Amino acid sequence: MRTPYIAGNWKMNLTPSEGVKLAKELAQATKGCNAKVMVAPNFVTIPGVAEVLKDSHIIVAAQNMNDNLKGAFTGEVSATMLKDLGVTNVILGHSERRAIYGEDDQLINKKVLLALAEGMDVDLCIGETLEEREGGKLEEVLTTQVTEGLKGVSKEMMKRITLAYEPVWAIGTGKTATPEDADSAHAFVRSIIEKLFDKTVAEETIIQYGGSVKAANVKELMAKENIDGALVGGASLSLEQFLPIVCFDKQ
Ligand code: PGA
Repeated sequence: MRTPYIAGNWKMNLTPSEGVKLAKELAQATKGCNAKVMVAPNFVTIPGVAEVLKDSHIIVAAQNMNDNLKGAFTGEVSATMLKDLGVTNVILGHSERRAIYGEDDQLINKKVLLALAEGMDVDLCIGETLEEREGGKLEEVLTTQVTEGLKGVSKEMMKRITLAYEPVWAIGTGKTATPEDADSAHAFVRSIIEKLFDKTVAEETIIQYGGSVKAANVKELMAKENIDGALVGGASLSLEQFLPIVCFDKQ
């Protein structure tokens, strides 16, 4: 049985005070809900949010981290620093990191291995662009991103990896993949995991869907066999919108 896992990626939104306020509200409001919950604030908002959520059921993640633990890397943040703040999880390979900041599969893999070595859990994002989908490259892109991103990861380590399938054309656009399309992409990703590891690992791996998830579509997405959670951007920025997603089973 895969436990539903709902994550909020706040991206470069919410000031530290706004983030702390939302974190407090969420900790209260989501208490009776069944899904595992995570929020990923921007770096400067993490300290306040981590403090507020310290003894709560909500996981605090970073949206990125450097592939080194320390040194002359101006403007960067390391796993060591994040752990010092109580951060246990990190999102890696988000399409905005890939597209805007040029992160490739090799760099992302380096970060994945470092995060795991540092004892952090990873949410690894994968997904195709519209051009790739229309060019019939969906399976090729997903195979490369999963295989390269997870190079060197053992079966045992897979327990600490969540995958997030986020078709780039559905992120922040209001366009959601149909539940059927998303489910078939997830099934394909699961088949790659089975080839790389085995059937048990494939069956146990949580695969979140991301891309314009909102209260109105979360239930039908989550009803699909291979969709185990959601990575939510825009709709994770307010209690009104995020609560019905986290507590989708009570809607
Ligand atoms: P969105 O973002 O929900 O605003 O489409 C999802 C994501 O990028 O994780």
